[in-house]
Amino acid sequence: SVNGLEFAVADLSLAEAGRHQIRLAEHEMPGLMALRREYGAAQPLRGARVAGSLHMTVQTAVLIETLVALGAEVRWVSCNIFSTQDEAAAAVVVGPQGTVDAPAGTPVFAWKGETLEEYWWCTMRLFDFGDGVGPNMLVDDGGDATLLVHKGVEFETAGAVPVSTEDDHAEYRVILATLAESIAQDGQRFTRIAAQLRGVTEETTAGVNRLYRFEQAGALLFPAINVNDSVTKSKFDNKYGIRHSLADGLNRATDVMLGGKLAVVCGYGDVGKGAAESLRGQGARVVVTEVDPICALQAVMDGMEVARLEDVVERADVVITTTGGIDIVTVAHLERMKHNAIVGNVGHFDTEIDMAGLAKVPGIERIEIKPQVHEWRFPDGHSVIVLAEGRLMNLANATGHPSFVMSNSFTNQTIAQIELFTRHGEYANKVYVLPKHLDEKVARLHLDALGARLTTLTKKQAEYLGIDVEGPYKPDHYRY
Ligand code: NAI
Repeated sequence: SVNGLEFAVADLSLAEAGRHQIRLAEHEMPGLMALRREYGAAQPLRGARVAGSLHMTVQTAVLIETLVALGAEVRWVSCNIFSTQDEAAAAVVVGPQGTVDAPAGTPVFAWKGETLEEYWWCTMRLFDFGDGVGPNMLVDDGGDATLLVHKGVEFETAGAVPVSTEDDHAEYRVILATLAESIAQDGQRFTRIAAQLRGVTEETTAGVNRLYRFEQAGALLFPAINVNDSVTKSKFDNKYGIRHSLADGLNRATDVMLGGKLAVVCGYGDVGKGAAESLRGQGARVVVTEVDPICALQAVMDGMEVARLEDVVERADVVITTTGGIDIVTVAHLERMKHNAIVGNVGHFDTEIDMAGLAKVPGIERIEIKPQVHEWRFPDGHSVIVLAEGRLMNLANATGHPSFVMSNSFTNQTIAQIELFTRHGEYANKVYVLPKHLDEKVARLHLDALGARLTTLTKKQAEYLGIDVEGPYKPDHYRY
């Protein structure tokens, strides 16, 4: 703590470099800057204590400083051990007005390359705004902060944390240990926090899946807004964001020529569509794997070959998982790949490539090419190159999605925070999406910057279509 400001970042002296990048990002994030102009005077988030768990990047810095500009008190951690941009974390701590010696920004607990223990230590720091006061709002990406509150309340109610077993996922064992320590210190911490929370706004597919499961089980402890399924989020960030950051991650990690190579994309949802387009844009021949016949048919109609991984794995130069699922690339697949085939994941969790199984192959050797790039050499002499230890490589090997597309996502985030903080009484403990007129507003805020001129409906045209001149222009069931 310096100046009464708590933080844990890699190196505060990176703040100036981070601030330059934030300045450029602000220019590319017109939606967030418009919200600062629209709400700066009214301060709708005054009194909000926002705890955020979302990749600590340059773009997220602009989100954090927007929440602060709207009156919120904010604390932040990253939602992935490799995704922090240390210069952005430093700049947020120092703040636009502070100095390295007298930081005056926002508490951040995040650095690139945390251990799992450090990651959950950081996440615990989110929940202490001083004097035992917790947050009253959550911003989540993947649902780890939300999970910690729910598990905390569950175990506090039970009076104990279950004993972990060898079968538990390594990360779950760390969560159990973290909560055991918390309960030993204060057996009501998360029960009190949950009672104060007005709600969570969730960024990604993986996190909203968790939320809907809590809702279905009747276990959701506070209202939630599913930001991912705003059209201006999932149909933009997940797709066009990955179209940019997948190729960026592959290039920075390996610099291998993608043109002419055979690339397999597992999953053809929003992220898979962007990934396939990214690879095809580089001249790769793209094969898609899918379980959903609708998405598989979309892939074929888009000109991709659809096959099973086991039928193409020997020919693949690059395999990218985008499913959000588990056991997509198995050890049996990895064993059969060509020498120096590249394997990476952009789904939220590290469940898609069987890294634990790979490490157990007798005689296998792991050689670090550079941080977040590893060659795994099998006893027969052939190797596979695994990116980011199976974690999301577009954020670990590069810097994630670019500012402009994240402005769409984070404008939705900010609107959702204002909505839940100011009108929480109107929401039950369920999962909601933002109404369409707000989704359309987010898109509108980004058109000018691209020089697009929207056509205005005439009154006659609007009446003919049975809609309002001002929108919404589509019914809720429209799919875009
Ligand atoms: P989605 O649900 O639209 O797409 C996933 C697709 O994978 C579905 O079409 C599904 O049928 C398919 N799939 C499931 N199991 C499969 C299997 N065994 N083999 C082949 N295909 C399979 O979800 P979305 O939005 O595309 O997100 C995917 C993941 O990426 C999630 O974990 C999400 O949180 C994450 N994400 C990551 C981002 C990043 O920057 N790296 C950005 C946005 C989302």
